[in-house]
Amino acid sequence: MKLVLATHNKDKITEIKALLQVLPINILTFQEFVRFPDVVEDMDTLEGNAEKKAREIFKITGMPALADDTGLFVDAINGEPGVFSSRYAGENVTYADNREKLLREMADIPDGKRDAAFKTVIVLIMSKDEKYIVEGRCEGYIGVEEKGTKGFGYDSIFYLHDTGKSFAELAVEEKNKISHRGRALQKIKKILEKITK
Ligand code: IMP
Repeated sequence: MKLVLATHNKDKITEIKALLQVLPINILTFQEFVRFPDVVEDMDTLEGNAEKKAREIFKITGMPALADDTGLFVDAINGEPGVFSSRYAGENVTYADNREKLLREMADIPDGKRDAAFKTVIVLIMSKDEKYIVEGRCEGYIGVEEKGTKGFGYDSIFYLHDTGKSFAELAVEEKNKISHRGRALQKIKKILEKITK
């Protein structure tokens, strides 16, 4: 079976491949296709965006497609940046711009009130009428400064309650065991195992 990852994000591709590569599936990415659009994420939910991305790539490639959409939800600021996590600081911004804006917005929020959660929704489109949807969550808090050099996005300011480590201090395998995307991927992996049996 072939499976196309409906993303241009190389960081996500690394994490997804690390978990799914044990399956008897040929995982394809945008690099194997001449035409592979950057799907506009204009829906107002993670579910909506993930399904839109997976469906468009399924239509274009004619192969099963998998997309994830992730948001970081911070309690103290009404769940922001949420579904707008990738463009929190504006259009065409860097990961660092988004992290800086979040730290700025949270400058007055004391320790103990900085809880946050990552949520990932994964949609797998097998055919026009066969869709699977799963989600994963990871709870933590936003630190007051960056720590660690691994990972991407908000990883260096997202800390885990039990260890006090940031996601950016974890190797990809460690992050995958507990992260939002890792948890959603474990669920989709079970579904793919059944499909490929
Ligand atoms: P997307 O819309 O699913 O691409 O994700 C929205 C934004 O959330 C990305 O641009 C990243 O900044 C951030 N993000 C997604 N996944 C992660 C993660 O695993 N760690 C840290 N930040 C992430």
